[in-house]
Amino acid sequence: MKPRAIITSALPYANGEIHLGHVASTYLPADVTTRFLKQNGVEAYYICASDDFGTPILIAAEKEKKTPQEYVAHWNKRDYEDFSAFDIGFDLFYRTSSPENIEFVRYVFDKLKKNGHIYESEIIQFYCQNDKKFLPDRYVIGICPHCQAPDQYSDLCEKCGRVPEEIGNPKCAICGATPTKEKTTHYFFRLKNFGDPLFKWLEENQNLQKDVKKYVQNWITSGLVDWDITRDISWGVPIPGDESKVFYGWFDNHLAYISSAIKFLNDKGLDGKEFWNSADIYHFIGKDIVYHHYLFLPAMRLGIDSEYKLPDYIPTRGHLTLQSKKISKSRNWYIGLKEFLEFYPSDYLRYYLVSINPYSQDDLNFDWDDFMTRINSELIGNLGNLVNRALGFTKKTFDGVIPAPSAYDDKDKEAESKIRTFASELSELVQQNHLDRALKKVMEFSAYFNQYFQHKEPWKKGPGTETCVFLAANAVYSISIALNSFLPKSSQKIWEQLGMSGNVSTKPWKSISELELKSGHKLGEITPIFGRVEEADIKKRKEKFETK
Ligand code: 2FM
Ligand code: ZN
Repeated sequence: MKPRAIITSALPYANGEIHLGHVASTYLPADVTTRFLKQNGVEAYYICASDDFGTPILIAAEKEKKTPQEYVAHWNKRDYEDFSAFDIGFDLFYRTSSPENIEFVRYVFDKLKKNGHIYESEIIQFYCQNDKKFLPDRYVIGICPHCQAPDQYSDLCEKCGRVPEEIGNPKCAICGATPTKEKTTHYFFRLKNFGDPLFKWLEENQNLQKDVKKYVQNWITSGLVDWDITRDISWGVPIPGDESKVFYGWFDNHLAYISSAIKFLNDKGLDGKEFWNSADIYHFIGKDIVYHHYLFLPAMRLGIDSEYKLPDYIPTRGHLTLQSKKISKSRNWYIGLKEFLEFYPSDYLRYYLVSINPYSQDDLNFDWDDFMTRINSELIGNLGNLVNRALGFTKKTFDGVIPAPSAYDDKDKEAESKIRTFASELSELVQQNHLDRALKKVMEFSAYFNQYFQHKEPWKKGPGTETCVFLAANAVYSISIALNSFLPKSSQKIWEQLGMSGNVSTKPWKSISELELKSGHKLGEITPIFGRVEEADIKKRKEKFETK
């Protein structure tokens, strides 16, 4: 761990509500990681922004009779509110349409041009005679030339993850007509220039996932294609010298990682650029945008002489399916984050989504019954039970005051050593990005102390009762700190029941293993931390998905 870190997650398009699919693969893992780094004394900042530009947003704004500025302002605010309700703790949630980003994008373009990485070329662009529009990107659908999948967008095949050079059997996505082809002059980024340095960078970076690296290197070996960065639309970053055209959204959006971070850091009185270049840089993404983050983004940074360093980590995860089917907003097969949080606490969703989400590109599945089972049997049956019985027993038997331990038997010694090794074992898993395994480790720790308590039978008030209560209460103390990055609200509740003041997030990580709850300390008020998820309620939640 470097003493500084900047964490970003894929920027959400400012054109619709955040749903469970978004948070599972990027925002939640990034948030857990940031909180963990902060607990470890790293000066870490989580930076995000709404992705404001592009044709789909322009068209959507027109449909709602709003200016694109009004339209994206609405979604920027709404997204931020939804993320906050889910305890996603951005240090800054900014926007790609900010003046800082627009200025930075134009600066990067000029520098790339000066460095010989940009050229102009006349191209033939799809044009719809009905709609009287050029049809960039999502506005043409057809057959992917790489994998032959039908109904793919011309800028991204969702099946094979590649960017088609020329889509087969093109159709206008607005009206279905076959588009004509018209001439227009575009700028191109010489991605081809970067095959060797990108390959080398991938080879040398040991923090990137091996499987992702491998297929990106295969793409490079099979030949990169220069990248058209101009769009004939009115909503975007205007191109210097040709203000009637704008940059392609994927040229400007990832630059907002940098421009937003620099704004945030400079506003804090720091030297933003120096901070960026001395920090560990994390970009959390879903597997659909690997091409953009492992090729375009690093190539552009290389093209401006690595003035801003390349990412150290690009944690890439799979997609969430819902009741085993692909999430689709148009088919109403999704769960809005806001809606979910009207029914269940944010920590329930955080617990569930981290638990089922491995550090890999495998898809993960949200299942209502599984959600209920895991919350009731794991979170409540194991963790809630330990907190309640250890603290409740102390309250009842010792008037809420932690007793002084007596001599330790072997079982007590083993229990103490579990606490002593907990911080480092857990930290290793989080640093390796195995958040699911780390959370499982917390649950195993809790299960161990439930068994320990059961085995020691302190309610019989025999010798060793004090030691048992002392160690079990300290285990709860450890859990409260260890859980903070995963379940911030519940961990704070446990903290308060332990009779501790202030915010648990400020406690250093090493405190997890230091048995800091001393004899004589008085606990706070003890009440159940979690409420059960009721079957009848889950049945109602499932109804929407059963009628389909
Ligand atoms: O795919 C998407 O949802 C894009 N809005 C992600 C952008 S991330 C970028 F900024 F790098
Ligand atoms: Zn059309």
